[in-house]
Amino acid sequence: MPGSITWRKARPDDARFLERWDEDPDVIASNPNDVGRTDWRAEIERNDPFSEILIFEEDGRPVGVVCDIDPALEETHYWGDCESGLRALDIWIGEARDRGRGVGAQMMRLALARAFADPAVRAVIIDPLASNARAIRFYERIGFRPVERRRFGEDDCLVMRFDRPA
Ligand SMILES: CC(C)(COP(=O)(O)OP(=O)(O)OC[C@H]1O[C@@H](n2cnc3c(N)ncnc32)[C@H](O)[C@@H]1OP(=O)(O)O)[C@@H](O)C(=O)NCCC(=O)NCCS
Repeated sequence: MPGSITWRKARPDDARFLERWDEDPDVIASNPNDVGRTDWRAEIERNDPFSEILIFEEDGRPVGVVCDIDPALEETHYWGDCESGLRALDIWIGEARDRGRGVGAQMMRLALARAFADPAVRAVIIDPLASNARAIRFYERIGFRPVERRRFGEDDCLVMRFDRPA
């Protein structure tokens, strides 16, 4: 059982955690073409309302992050043209000792509740690498379903979707 999991918006000083987590082998493996290329302080200070960075803490200690974007409005247009009413999430836990003990499931439950608190949100989408079998199993267990295989730049991904519960 994990401790108490809470979230807050990232502050510029959180860049030190994000930079350290970018050196973790599993974080790198989950996104090898991007990890290490983000200037986290600048990203946090950019304060883009359509691209939020949430720090998750276990008993007050930062353990992971969720990036929550509106894919139709976010500046880089990573997802291309897409319908309104979606949120796209990225999730990672920074250190091996914090994985595999339920922290991620709790983070994702909180992130989904937060996304669906906006009545305009119809579904949440994610794009793990197709090779990231453990993460895909984790998402399936939470209730995401596979939608399509899609290439984002050099990344071969599996797009998955979680529709608003009826
Ligand atoms: C994916 C991730 C967020 C899941 O969070 P978690 O707290 O480890 O997951 P939980 O403890 O709630 O659930 C355990 C499941 O997560 C899976 N998992 C995925 N990657 C894992 C990892 N690197 N280490 C341990 N478990 C991992 C496990 O496979 C486990 O399922 P299993 O028992 O069937 O193998 C987390 O493991 C992580 O950050 N992994 C590295 C980065 C990553 O792959 N992010 C996803 C990018 S799409």
